[in-house]
Formats: sequence, structure tokens, C-alpha cells
Amino acid sequence: MYIKQKKSWEISENEATCESLYLNRRKLLQAAGLAGAGLMIGGTPSFATPISGFPPIRNSEYTLDRALTSEQDATTYTNFYEFGSSKNIWRKAKKLSTDPWLVTIDGLVDYPIQIDASELVKKLGGMEERLYRHRCVEAWSMAVPWSGFSLSNLVKFASPKSDAKYIRMETFFDPDVAPGQKQSWYPWPYVEGLTLNEAKNELAFLAVGLYGKAMQNQNGAPIRLVVPWKYGFKSIKSITRFTFTNERPVSFWEELSPKEYGFWANVSPWVPHPRWPQDRERVLGGGYVKTQLYNGYEEEVSYLYKDKYTDDKRELFY
Ligand code: MTE
Repeated sequence: MYIKQKKSWEISENEATCESLYLNRRKLLQAAGLAGAGLMIGGTPSFATPISGFPPIRNSEYTLDRALTSEQDATTYTNFYEFGSSKNIWRKAKKLSTDPWLVTIDGLVDYPIQIDASELVKKLGGMEERLYRHRCVEAWSMAVPWSGFSLSNLVKFASPKSDAKYIRMETFFDPDVAPGQKQSWYPWPYVEGLTLNEAKNELAFLAVGLYGKAMQNQNGAPIRLVVPWKYGFKSIKSITRFTFTNERPVSFWEELSPKEYGFWANVSPWVPHPRWPQDRERVLGGGYVKTQLYNGYEEEVSYLYKDKYTDDKRELFY
């Protein structure tokens, strides 16, 4: 997906201090009963501990039609453009420090907060393991066991206001640690978005681990999205901010090249990428398989896209 295109530099909005976070502190602590939980608003948490609970129990509802990818392949062949456009970035990604890790939840929510990832995981509870297929827009795929919890738990925790329609997610911005972010033609920080209805779908997952262990940096530590019915670029890594909004977010790749990377980005064998076909995929570890609509999760997600079953199949992607 390598694209070199000049973009004007924009300072990330997450560098500004959010006044409402300060203003809502007392309200939040009282209402959510979070006082003393290592949570602070508008500052760093008073303490942070590593995310625990590995390995979680596997949820048997999520099964695979293929063999699991080897842990070696899934952790050494990764896309994380913050560390470069090669797949072999796992050594460079070690420089990222993920503990403590401040996560902001803001926008159209009752109680904007900042909370350490490990505390957030405790609040959301219910860590489980799920086996998911994962299909990259570059036409390779893998199948892996993620540890984490439903994104719908975070939506409930955030308590979005009734006019919130989307959830916008953002990755850290630190060019000293992530050399790819010195490449100013990319619109850093990495941003992704889902509709709130997509975020509430049970398949939408926030992963904090892989193969029963804490997530390694190159796979998006400490917390990343996994939406297995969409192309892998939607599954944003190392999230620092969840913003509830009524405006459709413009994702990183969509901003770079909207003709190649749509907002919806549902896996679809019928919609070729402008530079390659999408009807089959190379399975990491060996072999090729046919690509399935919604990456095989049609039964679970097609209700979300009823209005897109028109003659123009491109609507599932763009
Ligand atoms: N998230 C961030 N922040 N930066 C990235 O470059 N790459 C995306 C996605 N999330 C990316 C990201 C792409 S293109 C894919 S295919 C998946 O992460 C890859 O996830 P994996 O490397 O864990 O397999």
C-alpha cells in the first residue's frame, strides 16, 4: 500500500489540552465511582500496572475454517507504518514504551476521561480469546487468536450522547520513537473510524494480546482494534484516543488516497483495488484461498450494510 504523496503538515489535535476533561473531573469521579482507581483527568495516571489476565479463556463461538498462522509469522510480518513501510519492523517497534499508556475517551460522551490502558481493561472486564481471520487489503491473510474484549463494552463505558454517530480512533504521535512519523507526506497520526452501529457489533474487538500473551509492540500494543470483516487497515494499532462524534472521520489511508482506500473498507472479492484484484488471498505460511465477502463474516454483519446492496458493488468498500 506504499504511497508517497505530499501532504501539508497538520498538528495533531491531541496535543491541545482538553479543558472539558478538567471541567468534568469531579462529575466523572462521583458518577462513575472511579476515584482512587489510578485514574486522573488531564494528567498522567497516578499509577499503572501491566495488563494482566493472560491467557484468557477462549470463546468457542468464534471458530476458523483454516489453520492458525504461526506465531512467528504473525509477529514478524506486520504492517505498522509508524516504524516504516517494510513488514520487518518488529525490532524498531521495541522502542515504543507502552506502560504507562494514557487513553483518552472524549467527544460526544457523558464523561470524557483519560485512563491508563491497564485500568481501562479492568473496567471493561470480560477478557476472552477469539480466533479471527484477518485479511489485509494487500491480498495476504492470517488467522490468529486475539485476547481482548468487545468494543461494545467500551461504547457502554463511554456512554455516548444520542447524537454520536461515529467513533474516531487515533494512534500515538511520537516521531522520536517512531521514525516513520518523520515522513511528512503521511497524514499522522494514524486515524480510523467506525459507525457506532459497527462499533456495537459483537465482532468488533479491542485486542490487548495475541497467542495468549500480552500484545507485542509490532502488533499494536498495548491496545488495538480488530474488525475482521473489514480490510486490516481499519484495525488501528496502539490507540491513544477514542472520540465519539457525529462527523464521519477521515481515515489515514482514505486521506492519502481515497480512490484506493474507502471509509467502509468491507472485504469484498467483487471490488478490485485499482492496482490489484481482491478475489483471492495469499495465506501467510503458504497457499492461496478465495476471498469471501466480509471475509466470511456475512451472517454477522450484512445487516449493517443493507442500504449498500445496490448495483454498484463499490459501495461496500468506498
Ligand atoms: N495501525 C497503525 N497505527 N499503523 C499502521 O500502519 N497498519 C494497518 C493495521 N493497523 C497500521 C495499523 C494494516 S495495513 C494492517 S493489514 C494491520 O494493521 C496489520 O496488523 P498486523 O500487523 O498485526 O497483522
